[in-house]
Amino acid sequence: MARRSWAEPYKIKMVELIKMSSPEDRLQAIREAGYNTFLLKSEDVYIDLLTDSGVGAMSDRQWSGLMMGDEAYAGSRNFYHLRDTVEQYYSYKYTVPTHQGRGAENIISQLLISDGDYVPGNMYFTTTRLHQELAGGTFVDVVIDEAHDPSSEHPFKGNVDFDKLDALVEKVGAEKIPYICIATCVNMAGGQPISMANLKQLRTWCDKHGIMLVHDMTRVAENAYFIQQREEGYQDASVQQIVYELCSLTDAATMSSKKDAMVNIGGFLAMNDPKFYERACELVVVYEGLHTYGGMAGRDMEALAIGITESVDDQHIRARVGQVEYLGEKLKSAGVPIVNPIGGHAVFLNARKILPHIPQERFPAQALSAALYLESGVRSMERGVVSAGRNKDTGENYMPKLELVRLTIPRRVYTQAHMDVTAESVIDVMERADQIKGLRFTYEPEVLRFFQARFELVT
Ligand code: F0G
Repeated sequence: MARRSWAEPYKIKMVELIKMSSPEDRLQAIREAGYNTFLLKSEDVYIDLLTDSGVGAMSDRQWSGLMMGDEAYAGSRNFYHLRDTVEQYYSYKYTVPTHQGRGAENIISQLLISDGDYVPGNMYFTTTRLHQELAGGTFVDVVIDEAHDPSSEHPFKGNVDFDKLDALVEKVGAEKIPYICIATCVNMAGGQPISMANLKQLRTWCDKHGIMLVHDMTRVAENAYFIQQREEGYQDASVQQIVYELCSLTDAATMSSKKDAMVNIGGFLAMNDPKFYERACELVVVYEGLHTYGGMAGRDMEALAIGITESVDDQHIRARVGQVEYLGEKLKSAGVPIVNPIGGHAVFLNARKILPHIPQERFPAQALSAALYLESGVRSMERGVVSAGRNKDTGENYMPKLELVRLTIPRRVYTQAHMDVTAESVIDVMERADQIKGLRFTYEPEVLRFFQARFELVT
């Protein structure tokens, strides 16, 4: 029998109208935004692929959950529902809600990192690394080399390189490493998974050295899907089972629930150690709110609990990743250089290859992202030198090998036709790539500069 296509495991009950703007309007909008897509008004965007964060479509069940909000200051029943759901699906015993993922990153960094510590991870993430640095730590990249190579077809580019880890322990000593932070489906590598085998090996390594293993589980369901598709021995396991196994190999987790779990806002810190939980509860009241709501409304915790159950459904995740793959394959077959293999949440355009005439100091990915918006009203995000920022000690720009534009697909929001239009727009931009000019800063914020930086064209 021929392979059956996937179809969205839902039907649409309500729509939000969007409209295409004129080229003149887009030119004015991108100039006013200082060529930074973060500074565009959403109204001026046609297809919004800036991020998959907080922009998913909630189900009717999640919306009905909003009506069941118990907005008590303390002890909301929605908190207990969330806590039990986290334990059931993600294995962690204790949950501390936060307003979003970086709230959890702040708390864990402050609690565990001391001045002069090192925190290894399978590639950096912008907010994660900043919180580690603000707490006095230094991030160390221990992902395999293939993760930095857009053309490598390695099926698990999120894997840890144990030689790099061993070298770090040798250099600084295990006592200077409070924990290792492992992301599932590594965002900055292109939405690339870690294998179960690699994570199991890491668990053993951490036990041997007495180092804690922390899980950035923002996109764990997508990682689980890739394990099911690619890793021997997991073909018959459900995504739900794989998610549980991944989580149970780790000691604690930070979660931005705005991604996998399809809510507009929220996150949490979760762990198994009661002492660690106690300390997190003490700190969460300083920055977020009481430990039974931590910056979330009761209704949002309810929608999150329901979203978690939907996020691990096999049909859901197959269609979700399938849509990303659909866009990626279209671009690939037209000869557009993208990061391989196609990731779980986004297609990443290789701006170095598309704009070889723009040196990295002139921000090719930023320029490509602005050009794509101008062409079509499709909003994307720079993930290259601007996002990488400056080294906190030397003040020099990090020059990442990956100079990418991310076309991020929100969950359950756009149709295949939107993917077709997006692909056509990218192909059109690529055809006149030689006319695209580089950029220079007119304003550069000190931290997380990509959010609010402004640029001008270099002519
Ligand atoms: N970790 C990862 C892997 C993320 O992708 C994000 C957010 C965070 C942590 C922080 O979570 O936004 O809820 O505070 N990523 C978004 C993105 C912003 O567009 O990739 P947050």
